[in-house]
Amino acid sequence: MGHVAAPTAVRFEHRTDEDPVLGIGTATPRLSWIVPAADAAFIQEAYEVELTRAGTCEVIRVTVGDQVLVPWPAAPLSSRESVRVRVRVSGAGMRSAWSDPATVEAGLLRTEDWTARFISPRELGKLGAPAPVLRSTFDLPGGVVTARLYATAHGLYEATLNGRRVGDQVLAPGWTSYGHRLRYQTYDVTELVREGGNDLEVLLGNGWYRGRLGWDGRHAHYGDRLALLAQLEVTTSDGQVIRLGTDAFWTARESGVLADDLYDGQRTDLRPRADDRAGTVEVVDADLARLVAPDGPPVRVTQVLPAAAVFSSPSGATLVDFGQNLVGWVRLRVRDQAPGQEVVVRHAEVLEDGELGVRPLRTAKATDSYRLAGAPLEVLEPSLTFHGFRYAEISGLPEVRAEDVEAVVVGSDLRRTGWFSSSNPQLDRFHENVVWGMRGNFVDVPTDCPQRDERLGWTGDIQVFAPTASFLFDSAGFLSSWLADLAAEQRPDGSVPLVVPNVIESPLPAAAAWGDAATLVPWVLYQRTGDVGLLERQLPSMRAWVDYIAGLAGADRLWTGGFQLGDWLDPTAPHDAPFEAQADPDVVATGYLARSAEVVGLAAAVAGDADVAEKYARLAGEVRDAFAREFVTPGGRVLSDAPTVYALALAWALLPTADQRHHAGDRLADLVRASGFRISTGFVGTPLIMDALTGSGHLDVAYRLMFQSGCPSWLYAVTMGATTVWERWDAMLPDGQINPGQMNSFNHYALGAVADWLHRTVAGLAPAAPGYRELLVRPAPDRSLTAASARHRTPYGDAEVAWQRSEGRLRLRVVVPVGATATVHVPGRPEPARVGHGTHTWQAADPAAANRPLRTQATVRDVLDHEDTWRQVVAAAVETGVVGDEAEAAARLQVFLDAPSSRLVDALALAPPGLAKGRKALHARLDHLLPP
Ligand code: BGC
Repeated sequence: MGHVAAPTAVRFEHRTDEDPVLGIGTATPRLSWIVPAADAAFIQEAYEVELTRAGTCEVIRVTVGDQVLVPWPAAPLSSRESVRVRVRVSGAGMRSAWSDPATVEAGLLRTEDWTARFISPRELGKLGAPAPVLRSTFDLPGGVVTARLYATAHGLYEATLNGRRVGDQVLAPGWTSYGHRLRYQTYDVTELVREGGNDLEVLLGNGWYRGRLGWDGRHAHYGDRLALLAQLEVTTSDGQVIRLGTDAFWTARESGVLADDLYDGQRTDLRPRADDRAGTVEVVDADLARLVAPDGPPVRVTQVLPAAAVFSSPSGATLVDFGQNLVGWVRLRVRDQAPGQEVVVRHAEVLEDGELGVRPLRTAKATDSYRLAGAPLEVLEPSLTFHGFRYAEISGLPEVRAEDVEAVVVGSDLRRTGWFSSSNPQLDRFHENVVWGMRGNFVDVPTDCPQRDERLGWTGDIQVFAPTASFLFDSAGFLSSWLADLAAEQRPDGSVPLVVPNVIESPLPAAAAWGDAATLVPWVLYQRTGDVGLLERQLPSMRAWVDYIAGLAGADRLWTGGFQLGDWLDPTAPHDAPFEAQADPDVVATGYLARSAEVVGLAAAVAGDADVAEKYARLAGEVRDAFAREFVTPGGRVLSDAPTVYALALAWALLPTADQRHHAGDRLADLVRASGFRISTGFVGTPLIMDALTGSGHLDVAYRLMFQSGCPSWLYAVTMGATTVWERWDAMLPDGQINPGQMNSFNHYALGAVADWLHRTVAGLAPAAPGYRELLVRPAPDRSLTAASARHRTPYGDAEVAWQRSEGRLRLRVVVPVGATATVHVPGRPEPARVGHGTHTWQAADPAAANRPLRTQATVRDVLDHEDTWRQVVAAAVETGVVGDEAEAAARLQVFLDAPSSRLVDALALAPPGLAKGRKALHARLDHLLPP
């Protein structure tokens, strides 16, 4: 009999906590597990779940092959109930041992479970006043078996019990659409309570609730009073249950936090507060029906980085470089300073002329300051704010030693699930930048940027980044929560706010690519996690959005007119008008309508609603027809002739005939050549262009675009020393100056969306069925790399693809987790291989090996495509003064791509009004190189 290993990683919903999972928000949590290894013949035919609750044990056997998000098999959980679960699997005559136990404990599932009430300080903690601390003292008997604290706040809260910090979360309760959904947290405080007198203290900060949000200086978006809801529940060995909650008997005092704001920073007086003002609290009216348990991980400190260097700026300021643009705050140790002395820490992502480059922060002060207590050792760090920075300026100390400064990295503590590496260090650094960009912008809400007076849940940004995010980190719980906010904030007419949670007043009712987050993010999550329930939950929201934009489009099925953000930040757009892209906004909007309608149809089919599926499939078909009729020529040109319009038309199957698709692909490739392989797409085109090029047979052109490092390109920022992905292709100009645009972040994930192509195509690891139950392995080796690999912790376990080229051979290694299968396209083989779980290797002739010579009778296009020759052409043309750079050379040649290469020099020199000087010299340099 064969062997199957015991399941591991038993999970509840999308929670990724270490065991136990506390405070789950559903009575019927779905289960998932991984089978780490099994004989090749193993196929799961059944699973058994053993549930131990309140001393009883039951085993339930289910005869299906599923192992991801399977239904809760037993009676629903009641509030606070804790169940210990083990799983074992069987099939093909094999049976595993039981998994290790995993424990899930329900939160407070019903509003009535809350006996506590929201309380707010009566006299203290007003807007602009020091942060208040709310306090309760109480006696407990001995023999405590378990103690739980359930808590949330209007504002941020930080609890200490008997002087010890409760939990390791920061910035709790995080940010949701507070008017509809307010998260509470569940803490195990068994170790913190004690027999006799206990002291529970909770510091409240402004945070998202009452602090500044948006660039118009507004604060107190949700209300002007901070409030706390906390309920402590203690069970003793003799079965006593003691419940203590926030009520009017708590007291308030002022803390030493004199000011706190997410944008502006925190001001703290560390001196003992002899004149502590005490105050009373009162119960405030607040709807407890809004309370929800977390779906994803909390915000935590995820890493601490040492200072890379401490140095003096030209103006004499003391600067610290952490070597990495990150999100969090600075921790500083100071010794033996005078009481009352002020230390100030300012932050910035970049330097300009050697000083902190704070202009991109706009009005965010990003400044923390401290009045020292004067103790022998003081550790300075804030907790009610966060900053996006790589550099800090420290003033108020005679000396700053590198070993006394650290950067504390803060973000949603997502489980890492995706890795990529290649033989090219620049590409790997770029990928690392994408990872850091995600870490810095997944701070409870998926934000545009983490540093300036913005940091909002821009829908368009996450719409394009969701596939990459889902690969790199387990984003399912995080994004599922955000999508619940999106649905809650959707207006009755179906329109979707530009930011979720919605805190800006936008005159824009609907923006294509932004509002489409409603449809495309759930679809991505379904693809990557297999979560049908999430899709079903979002379906009304998805439909409402499509109905709304279909209404805007009207009977002709074309979504035209009105203001659109469009292909935002197309690099050719003026720096103060990022929406003035080359791509026609009507083409973009109508393309999105087709795509979203199609996705709603597919989602409805998954949800089992055939009528709805058919309705939206028909709508998608009509929009596609309209698109082709209005925007596409019979030959396959697409209106506005910009890379982005071809990218979306190809990626979303908007071109009816094979001939049109063929020509559109060729046209797109020519446009990339004409730009000298520099990027010319914005938010809309960037995530699609690589798939469009690859799918239309222009993989080599895609690689040229990927490996371009001139400005603008993905690697340009890397050559400029970037450690995160920038908002603008040229956020920093080649001369080291900061782009003059007022909107200019050095930590924006949107343009990093190309990483998904690196994973799926360059390495070749893609999902072929929801949740990666089937893998599509189709690596695309190119001569610019000798190796690439991607690994992803799929819901079934680790999948991996790695390829290497050497000595004319391609070696391919594929790891398929138990429960999944893979279709593997080995380069050069006519038929794909289908394999089950395990590690598989192949060898084939290296498809990229031949360093082919430029063919005789080559065209100008062939010369551009022949990288080595093209490099020499550009070098000679620049040296002879015929052109300034590669981009100019390519631009000159764009109308001569079909001409014989013998005409290339004259074409290059054709610089109206006459012929460029240097033409003769260029001829002399190149005649031997270019075939006649
Ligand atoms: C944000 C973007 C966002 C855009 C749309 C900007 O201020 O930073 O990323 O999508 O506005 O208007």
